[in-house]
Amino acid sequence: MADTNQSIHGEWSSRFAFILAATGSAVGLGNIWKFPYITGENGGGAFVIIYLICVAAIGIPIMIAETMMGRRGRRSPINTLEVLTKEAGASTNWHYLGWLGVIAGFLILSYYSVIAGWAMAYVLKAFTGSFSGESAEQISSLFADLQFSPVEQIFWHTVFMVTTMAVVARGVQGGLEKAVRFLMPGLFILLMLLVAYAMTTGAYMQGMNFMFKPDFSDITGSSVLTAMGHAFFTLSLGMGAIMVYGSYLPKDVSIAKTVIIIAGVDTLVALLAGIAIFPIVFANGLEVGSGPGLIFQTLPIAFGNMTGGWLFGLLFFILLVFAALSSAISLIEPAVAWCVENYEIERKKACMAMGFLTWLLGLGTVFSFNTWSDFTFFGANIFGALDYLTANIMLPLGGFFIAIFAGRIMLEKHSKEELNLANDDLFSIWKFLVMYIAPAAVFIVFLNVLGVFGV
Ligand code: PFF
Ligand code: NA
Repeated sequence: MADTNQSIHGEWSSRFAFILAATGSAVGLGNIWKFPYITGENGGGAFVIIYLICVAAIGIPIMIAETMMGRRGRRSPINTLEVLTKEAGASTNWHYLGWLGVIAGFLILSYYSVIAGWAMAYVLKAFTGSFSGESAEQISSLFADLQFSPVEQIFWHTVFMVTTMAVVARGVQGGLEKAVRFLMPGLFILLMLLVAYAMTTGAYMQGMNFMFKPDFSDITGSSVLTAMGHAFFTLSLGMGAIMVYGSYLPKDVSIAKTVIIIAGVDTLVALLAGIAIFPIVFANGLEVGSGPGLIFQTLPIAFGNMTGGWLFGLLFFILLVFAALSSAISLIEPAVAWCVENYEIERKKACMAMGFLTWLLGLGTVFSFNTWSDFTFFGANIFGALDYLTANIMLPLGGFFIAIFAGRIMLEKHSKEELNLANDDLFSIWKFLVMYIAPAAVFIVFLNVLGVFGV
């Protein structure tokens, strides 16, 4: 067995490198594309508050748990679980949890890549000046054309998958650190600029009220599930992505502090995206609940109208593609690391095989917006069903078991040693959250959606 102090896949050069990579995984389409449209579909303020509570009470403790388990196991999630289980003398069934994560990663990447492809298509549209001087209606039909074109979507989906697998083939520590270093500040500046534009639309307060004035009568059991699922999705939790990055983390880094920074940045980016988008929605009489196309129907209006909009629009979509790329890498890394460990096949070959499978599955999402849009499961098209299955079921389920494992199976001596918190009360708070609060919350939200409470 390999030396347990370092992963065979390498190690991050510093704490900052891990922060960059994990932030790269967290900040992505989930913040800029998904958060605004699900907030729109679920009535705004109250949904946002539930989401924030889920991030703080469930997301952060589980993120700490995942990072810690990865660092102790030093392997891909499936094998890390095996190592930790042995160490704790528990049942070997726990490695199925690693499998659940690998499969969730596959399924998510298959549709994530299609949406990232939309962002790529918009880089080109921005470059050719398609937004300038266009009305809200023209911008909407630009998006509709893309959605109805399988060829255009398949083209960009292919470009995105090939790029992702090319990066993963080189090992995640290489180019990623550098990319994220300019990505985050760049994204932040452009979002601030969009917020400034939103202030000039005349509907800024209306947008802010929508996002921050809660009306709990809008909330249903299914919106609570969506908010909770999104807390997992946005922080990349419940499937081993953060566990695998944790396995490359040097021993002396404080996990809790690092995790809080990452979750904070992720939340900030999502809120800024919403603050920029909703005023544009209201100012142009668009529909808040219009679904996955929301950012593509709103932000180009801003770029088409502001001075320097051509350049800013171009930069924004380029950065969005990079943000998606740094998340996509982490979606497939658990599977690739596992292949390399267990079959001793080359990283490159593992990437090609995994990438092809994911690409193939992604075609289902492409067609769900056009040719196969009538083809539904439980009332959702293929994209909707995949999104529901992964974000609302698989990730919370994975997170539930991770919390149980970290809180109840792993020896306290080990978790204490890994977390190395300055004070014992902090450790007890974390332990309480992963032992009781996080699993109970997931359980209750699931039961509620199943109608057990009869509401
Ligand atoms: N956190 C990413 C986002 O918000 O876009 C999506 C994601 C990446 C989910 C990695 C899960 C994951 F393992
Ligand atoms: Na995110």
